[in-house]
Amino acid sequence: MTDEIRSAIDFYERHPISAEIIKAKLLDARGTLENVAPDELFAHDQDHYGSLAANDALAQRAGIAQGSRVADFCAGLGGPARYLAHRYGADVTGIELTPARVRGAAELTQLAGLADRVRVIEGNVIAVPLDGGSVDAVISQEAFLHVPDKAKTLAEAHRILKNGGRLAFTDWVAHRPLSQADAALMWAGMAATNLYDIPAYTKLIEAAGFTVTSVDDLTADWAEILKARLAMYQKLRGETRAAGTASGHDAFYESYVRFVELVSEGTLGGARFAGVKA
Ligand SMILES: C[S@@+](CC[C@H](N)C(=O)[O-])C[C@H]1O[C@@H](n2cnc3c(N)ncnc32)[C@H](O)[C@@H]1O
Repeated sequence: MTDEIRSAIDFYERHPISAEIIKAKLLDARGTLENVAPDELFAHDQDHYGSLAANDALAQRAGIAQGSRVADFCAGLGGPARYLAHRYGADVTGIELTPARVRGAAELTQLAGLADRVRVIEGNVIAVPLDGGSVDAVISQEAFLHVPDKAKTLAEAHRILKNGGRLAFTDWVAHRPLSQADAALMWAGMAATNLYDIPAYTKLIEAAGFTVTSVDDLTADWAEILKARLAMYQKLRGETRAAGTASGHDAFYESYVRFVELVSEGTLGGARFAGVKA
């Protein structure tokens, strides 16, 4: 196991967004976990910026519709996968590295009654356990920052897509190189590996065999979202401690505060890329 893999798993095993905290919130709000509707989970299970609108943006760019076969790279607790199944009628297979999140995704998907259309399987996106030419769309929300070999990840997306299939994903970008101290902090606190600027990332996607169809710089949107997110993490930290579940770790909070500054000043940011398998 590489350092990057160990670090990403370690980070997400302790992440404050977990199936346990989501179930605790549901129990608190409705007194039972019987008959949970998918919509009831969506306020809690999306581990990316921009929530459901960010999923709609990917769905549009990836042409996702009723019956589309979709792979969700780095699926987390399955939030985007369940949303695409529920809202668009897609059949979604998530690929997720962290065992606790794979287990959490299965539990939440079962609770929401979507197990016939959504499955999150344990795997690494640099070697995806799906057949070549087997999906109509590959999506990913804000996760490739953890994956050092983005070229291999994009090559895997290309391999499993049918001809004419579409890729749409969001990720961190570095508009300017990070100082050594900031890069070390982002690695120690958030398991962030190598980052690209938008032109370099676009070239990488093209090199994997895609025709790039759109690129959206999300940095200004993220700067606003992140301020609210930081406040949410601070609140969650108290709640997770009260509930006795994973509450994240100090390096995470320290690096998150700096991350919010770096996005606000425009050194780091986010982007949404879309392409088609030529
Ligand atoms: C910020 S979370 C996003 C989760 C999900 N996409 C969402 O929006 O709710 C990033 C996820 O990427 C997963 N991850 C990191 N490296 C991975 C890899 N090499 N292969 C598969 N999943 C990975 C982490 O375990 C984590 O669940």
